[in-house]
Amino acid sequence: MTQASAQPKHYLSDKVEHFTESVIREMTRQAMQYGAINLAQGFPDFPAPAEIKQAAQDAIAADINQYAITWGAQSLRQAIARQMQEWQGLHVDPEKEIVVCCGSTEAMVATLLAVCNNGDEVVVFEPFYENYGPDSILSGAKPRFVKLRPPQTADDEWTFNEIELREAFQHHTKAIILNTPNNPTGKVFSRKELELIRDLCVEYNVLAITDEIYEHILYDGAQHISIACLDGMRERTITINGLSKSYSVTGWRVGWAVAPPAITSAIRKVHDFLTVGAPAPLQEAGAAALSLPAVYYHELAERYRTRRDRLIPALENAGFRCFRPRGAYYVMTDITAFGFPDDVEFARHLVQEVGIACVPGSSFYKHRKDGSQQVRFAFCKRPETLDEAARRLEKLRPR
Ligand SMILES: Cc1ncc(COP(=O)(O)O)c(C=O)c1O
Repeated sequence: MTQASAQPKHYLSDKVEHFTESVIREMTRQAMQYGAINLAQGFPDFPAPAEIKQAAQDAIAADINQYAITWGAQSLRQAIARQMQEWQGLHVDPEKEIVVCCGSTEAMVATLLAVCNNGDEVVVFEPFYENYGPDSILSGAKPRFVKLRPPQTADDEWTFNEIELREAFQHHTKAIILNTPNNPTGKVFSRKELELIRDLCVEYNVLAITDEIYEHILYDGAQHISIACLDGMRERTITINGLSKSYSVTGWRVGWAVAPPAITSAIRKVHDFLTVGAPAPLQEAGAAALSLPAVYYHELAERYRTRRDRLIPALENAGFRCFRPRGAYYVMTDITAFGFPDDVEFARHLVQEVGIACVPGSSFYKHRKDGSQQVRFAFCKRPETLDEAARRLEKLRPR
């Protein structure tokens, strides 16, 4: 290659120019490099339920190995519709209102590509799951962030300011992205908060795109409410979910979007051109997973509760201030007591010197300084892993 042609920027899309590599996956690589315990990325280090692994093996043995219907195997779509009826009381037509995708990650970006035009804005609560910003930009939209403020006391919740939220809806707003139960904060949005968001969506004619991938992981009596169930929202909501978190199969890459027929039809087209379809045998296994009895979900949440209650005291003893999650399997913490200049330096110290990987808080904020005294830990790990993390945390000292 000659010097003249070696101008990499010239070849790149303006859209990706400001994308940074996923900090979470970078921390996973560092965890492997330093032999650290990976409390950074949200994947379980324990097996998936035996019956659904068997269902996947059976599907492959039965030769379900070719393309599924592009918008999803009928058995899985029917199981999704059944579960939404049972858990949320929502009637969904599996023929017209569901698109099965390669993980909820694809469902989110396919949805945004299907509904956004250049110049549209998408409201996103901050701190946010790191994909939402790039997903909005890929679809031509601009994300507009609204702050969630951390709790002041152990009994408080992360809260948002109603006036700020209303202001955010007034800029060519196409959609709001919600995530409840929330990553990274563990917040579970209350009915009152969802009603307020509903009122704004209706007033400004805005869609709600709601990522409910942690819907079954709830603590302390918290209740998951799908915004699609609120009056006036069914026709303007896209609900996103998947197998990854509820069944501990993050590597299977099966997720879905549920939306009114016209929006579903648009998402199906985008999805077809993006990926054609999700893995066929794993969709069959997904249908088996969604048919597990209610007790499975109660045990799942209870197992995560004991893990949360194992990790938080160890973090607090080490000097972290923890924001106690009511759902999902992460704990956001404040690291001010350690006297580090920022979260990235702290995370580097923790992985290299203490042997634990976490995610620097700044990766969940638009302005990195906003998260510069926060880090996030994932506790979707075996009790032995968390015990070893607790032992290692005893080495941690303030600067
Ligand atoms: C809020 C949220 N949405 C989506 C995902 C990714 O889900 P999937 O594996 O279905 O793509 C994650 C993974 O951490 C997440 O935390």
